[in-house]
Amino acid sequence: MKLLVTGGLGFIGSNFILKLLKESSNFEIINVDAELHGADKNNLSEIQNNEKYEFVKGNITNRRLMEELISKCDAVVNFAAESFVDRSIDNADPFLVSNIRGSFTILDIITKQKKRMIQISTDEVFGSLSTGTATEKSQLNPSNPYAATKAAAELLIKSYVSTHNSDVIITRCTNNYGPRQFPEKLIPKVIILANQSNEIPIYGKGVNIRDWIHVDDHCDAVLMALLNGKSGESYNISANNEVDNLTIVNKILKLMNKPQNLIKFVEDRPGHDLRYSMDSQKISNDLGWKIKTSFDDGLKNTINWYLNNPEILNKIHLETVQDTTPWKSSN
Ligand SMILES: NC(=O)c1ccc[n+]([C@@H]2O[C@H](COP(=O)([O-])OP(=O)(O)OC[C@H]3O[C@@H](n4cnc5c(N)ncnc54)[C@H](O)[C@@H]3O)[C@@H](O)[C@H]2O)c1
Repeated sequence: MKLLVTGGLGFIGSNFILKLLKESSNFEIINVDAELHGADKNNLSEIQNNEKYEFVKGNITNRRLMEELISKCDAVVNFAAESFVDRSIDNADPFLVSNIRGSFTILDIITKQKKRMIQISTDEVFGSLSTGTATEKSQLNPSNPYAATKAAAELLIKSYVSTHNSDVIITRCTNNYGPRQFPEKLIPKVIILANQSNEIPIYGKGVNIRDWIHVDDHCDAVLMALLNGKSGESYNISANNEVDNLTIVNKILKLMNKPQNLIKFVEDRPGHDLRYSMDSQKISNDLGWKIKTSFDDGLKNTINWYLNNPEILNKIHLETVQDTTPWKSSN
């Protein structure tokens, strides 16, 4: 199978590509990435000479390029997106371009070329839930600009499935963690700051709850959806592992033998959703997917990965990592 993976220099896309090429000989992969925020070429340096892998620097909004690349492939897995909520609060514009226009460009082309598309979406489209869990039938209710752009892409897809019978599957996943995540996000940021014995900012009182899933389990689910998912359907992917931010930070500090007094509570971000929660019975029942990595094991291997790859620190803007209120000062 020849796959076009978009956004493959980012966190989840790079883990997905490495997984496919390492665990199977059935895939050839073209990775198209515009090298925007979140991209790191080093994520895939180990396969740069692999004959089954090709990198193309390009933007998914570039219709001509995407038509050419999609014509060479059997299916597209669309990871490419502006993905950091805080940045969408500061300036939503790039989110509209990549997450809506970019997804639409792929959707329109795969429909005309009769190819399959997997749209990588997020639990954030359902908004904050004080109780209960979202199923595939729950209403979209995004409450930050990032989530709204992801929901908009989903609605475009739904309309294309209804009107053109497009072969698209949407997967929605909870918060990922694991190797190669850009250090602006909570878990790598805490690991890096703790390793430097620097202060660790936590929004509000650290009570916000997310359901954390290891990136490898997410990639397994995406692969199953690609190979065996039913056209036009959506699948929620969650880990049944709801943890608040303060508990996560304390767990990391304990595993790294660092004191809890590194924690500094800072002003909460606007519109900070309290809790996301999804039910993933459908993908388990229909496709046989299940979680393989426990949170404790996953956290330990993630900490080890960052400690063994200190060069990642040279790739990032230190001020971003140390900034306590990135939504005010990013960009
Ligand atoms: N990280 C999570 O916890 C999480 C959870 C659920 C869903 N998702 C979704 O998974 C996908 C990947 O997330 P991630 O955390 O790996 O993000 P990331 O920010 O690490 O990587 C995104 C990649 O997409 C590329 N990109 C962005 N816009 C592009 C464009 N217009 N053209 C070409 N390339 C472009 C960037 O250069 C980058 O390499 C996103 O669609 C995101 O919404 C992420």
